[in-house]
Amino acid sequence: SAAEKGGYDYFMLKEIAEQPKAVADTLLGRIGTDGRLTLDELRIPDQVLREVDKVVVVACGTAFHAGMIAKYAIEHWTRIPCEVEVASEFRYRDPIMDDRTLVIAISQSGETMDTLMALRHAREQGAKVLAICNTNGSTIPRESDAVLYTHAGPEVAVASTKAFLTQLVACYLVALYLGQVRGTKWGDEISSVIRELGDAPRQVEQVLGTMEPVRALARSLADAPAVLFLGRHVGHPVALEGALKLKELAYMHAEGFAAGELKHGPIALIEEGLPVVVVVPSPRGRSILHDKIVSNIQEIRARGARTIVIAEEGDEAVVPYADHLIRIPATPTLLQPLVSTVPLQVFACELATAKGHEVDQPRNLAKSVTVE
Ligand code: G6P
Repeated sequence: SAAEKGGYDYFMLKEIAEQPKAVADTLLGRIGTDGRLTLDELRIPDQVLREVDKVVVVACGTAFHAGMIAKYAIEHWTRIPCEVEVASEFRYRDPIMDDRTLVIAISQSGETMDTLMALRHAREQGAKVLAICNTNGSTIPRESDAVLYTHAGPEVAVASTKAFLTQLVACYLVALYLGQVRGTKWGDEISSVIRELGDAPRQVEQVLGTMEPVRALARSLADAPAVLFLGRHVGHPVALEGALKLKELAYMHAEGFAAGELKHGPIALIEEGLPVVVVVPSPRGRSILHDKIVSNIQEIRARGARTIVIAEEGDEAVVPYADHLIRIPATPTLLQPLVSTVPLQVFACELATAKGHEVDQPRNLAKSVTVE
């Protein structure tokens, strides 16, 4: 009913709008007054976490994209090697694990069969399993050694939005906490990122307040035959997520690529008028990545692409090459997906609506897939 949708036409719109609160609720009570993380709920003793020598993330769909971002965060802040794999592939290749492996299973519903079977396999091998889950008491957390709940509240729309942002928060918390208990050389950076995470709800709110031009752009692209998405570093999974949203909701051909791979194949797809969304890393962090992606934008634009550029406020280098510029607030490099994903959700939702599709219940998809 309209009341359940809180005045919005679709649950998806409501859930996109709820993201600042979902992020804030997922952070709540987890950052101590001393600026350190307290994740007592993890139930895996710090001593065990100190001995972990490998992390494996398993998940499906949108949660898998959160897992890809987790890998960047975990390897950077903890120096523990981290793999990420779609849950449906994981157990069939005889993966290598032991009691020093930490497996992180990410699932909004907690009922996805592929993810459940992956975690069962991991536990049989002696690995410790930590679930990141949005549904209290669901099967995946019940069968895991520990759980870190996301507090997105119930997500009704099939395409995941607020759950994804809270999965990112949970992944950052786990990565930062592992860094904190293990005491890496990134101690100062970890403290400052923990502080900046507290600012994420306000930044997401800020992005949501600037989405009207993105909606207009989406409507203007309703007849586009395809849309490509490029990103690098944590922007790569964001590009994949942007493309997935467009497939799920608008039934369009949409593909995400690592921008550096462009020259190894996908650049052949570029032709006059093709919309290409580019997620640009901060020019402050690893500026080499920023500069390389600016070159990519030039290259595709010279070949006729219509460039839709998502870039940090104050990044002037992209301005000459952006047919459409979407600004996001400055964040630490690894946290950028919290803000860069939001315009892509809005874009897909609006484009699908313009095409007349039912965004809450896309064809052929289920919110929770309980078969392998
Ligand atoms: C289904 C949904 C996706 C979701 C995936 C994983 O395929 O349509 O939106 O990302 O399952 O769901 P989970 O509940 O495990 O996060």
